[in-house]
Amino acid sequence: MSKPKVVAISGSPRARSFTDRMLDLCVQGMGDVELTKFYAYKMKVAPCMACFSCWRQTPGECAQKDDFAPVLEAYKGAQYVLVAAPLYVWGFPGPVKTMIDRFIPVIEPWMIPGEDGVTRHPRRYELSPKAVLISSCGFPEMKHFDLMRAHFKLMCDNSGWTWAGEILIPGAAVYGIPGVFDFKHDAIRSAGRELVSGVISPETTAEIAKNVLSAEDSRNLVNGYFEGGIKGKAKMAAVAVKARIRRG
Ligand SMILES: Cc1cc2nc3c(=O)[nH]c(=O)nc-3n(C[C@H](O)[C@H](O)[C@H](O)COP(=O)(O)O)c2cc1C
Repeated sequence: MSKPKVVAISGSPRARSFTDRMLDLCVQGMGDVELTKFYAYKMKVAPCMACFSCWRQTPGECAQKDDFAPVLEAYKGAQYVLVAAPLYVWGFPGPVKTMIDRFIPVIEPWMIPGEDGVTRHPRRYELSPKAVLISSCGFPEMKHFDLMRAHFKLMCDNSGWTWAGEILIPGAAVYGIPGVFDFKHDAIRSAGRELVSGVISPETTAEIAKNVLSAEDSRNLVNGYFEGGIKGKAKMAAVAVKARIRRG
């Protein structure tokens, strides 16, 4: 039996991306899968030019021949789509949004009413891969993900993707404190396991989202970093010690 196929978009420009690490942990939890990962910042993907060739002249095929073609090919055989991207200005980083726009060939031009009566496009292929949003952000509250979460759900509804959960970590500034995030690794692997058998449970989602620091400590940590100098470093060290004591 062939392995389930996973298409992942990893959307951070950072070599040691926190979000990418979360993506890998989730895939580990999924077990024996075939992963095709695309790094948005390393690819040459032009913005959609709104020529609508993919809807009229060459249905399903984009007129632009660039690095997005292999993404579409991999997508056509995938059972899972994982979109992992840091939160940038309350939304998706530009290169990830560019890739999202280029998925237009997988839907058809017709406007039809959905089950809820709201207008949408039908999907072009008989595909309904399970889709998961993976993100981290610097601010310590979950509410900063609101726009991105809503955007992802709409994308799922309109692209025929089956929304299957979220892996979201706020307050990721604390990532720099060695070991302090390790307690989440098992929960993220569990999310991967749950995904294979259904959807990521609300309990696991909540465990992953749990803050390591209070909002105030998070702010102090980041402020210390940008302040620099001895005072800033002392502020960061104090927060780091507190975080480690709390986790034991
Ligand atoms: C251009 C830019 C915009 C950002 N915008 C936000 C934001 O709107 N809200 C937030 O909480 N963090 C924001 N951040 C912080 C990142 O989301 C956070 O550091 C994230 O964990 C980085 O993940 P990565 O290591 O995978 O790149 C921003 C960072 C950058 C560089």
